[in-house]
Amino acid sequence: MKATAIAHSNIALVKYWGKRDVALNLPAAGSLSVTLDGLSTTTTVSFDDSLDGDRLILDGQEITEGRPLDRVVTFLDLIRAEAEVTACATVETSNDFPTAAGLASSASGFAALALAATTAAGLDWSKERLSALARRGSGSAARSLFGGFAEMKPGLRPDGADAHAVPIADADHWDLRCLVALTARGEKKVGSTQGMQRTQATSPFFNPWLATMDDDLTAARQAVENRDFGALAGVAERSCLRMHATAIGADPGVLYWNATTTSLIHAVRHARDEGLPCFFTIDAGPHVKVFCPASSATDVEAMLRDSSGVLDVLVTRPGQGARIIEAR
Ligand code: DP6
Repeated sequence: MKATAIAHSNIALVKYWGKRDVALNLPAAGSLSVTLDGLSTTTTVSFDDSLDGDRLILDGQEITEGRPLDRVVTFLDLIRAEAEVTACATVETSNDFPTAAGLASSASGFAALALAATTAAGLDWSKERLSALARRGSGSAARSLFGGFAEMKPGLRPDGADAHAVPIADADHWDLRCLVALTARGEKKVGSTQGMQRTQATSPFFNPWLATMDDDLTAARQAVENRDFGALAGVAERSCLRMHATAIGADPGVLYWNATTTSLIHAVRHARDEGLPCFFTIDAGPHVKVFCPASSATDVEAMLRDSSGVLDVLVTRPGQGARIIEAR
């Protein structure tokens, strides 16, 4: 009744933004991502009959109330129902990156929790089924079950059983680097769940944006298959900018960028014009993620570190999917 899993964060190249069903957390469209070897969460779940409530220990500190604990309890309830387990659980989870830096922790967090908790509850599920489960915790977590390049399928079924990620290519398919330029400290003000729901409810650009998703997914899938860096750069930057454009068009507008975010967009494009292969993507926060071939990583890192407002740069590469590291 005890298991430990590790999962890595992922960065979307074709963005998920909006839901076709809030209760089941079904995405409005597909998305495509790279799972990264850094940015990992390790989670141990142990079910224990003697507990009278679920316990969450995050980076060594017990969380006794609030949204993170509520999300974990709701998620464990799904697993208890499937496994016919009634015991409460202790969830000990730690990130190898600063949780408060505003980097995605829900993706690695719910992927690791889905795998550790199902294993501890005695369930032996396929990666696809685990991915659909992880989606209930956070849409982006569904993609972190798989290593390398993964595509989230929005599915058609009302129960969401077919809304899960599928693998596209392994981590060693393409020797890319993803450099994460940190541009601010602290949590973002508008979380992704809230930001996408406000966008969907109020932005006149949301539905036109959704109509572009299938073409972007096809283009990104082909670029990955062909290891076509220029094609991937084109589709990833336009997907990112259009996602943010829909959010900025909400009422009130959802704007995640700071001045450094904007100047890095220009810096990356300028470097590319000068012959350095690189492209940017930005999630629901002010940090900028820059992809490049492994051979250009040193130059891209130097360019980012030289840019004013950059607090730190993390260098990551495609990594493995979620896996169990201990179970008994
Ligand atoms: C901008 O997966 O955090 O990172 O399903 O509501 O938990 P919820 O949202 P979440 O949204 C991620 C949004 C994004 C784009 C992406 O990862 O595809």
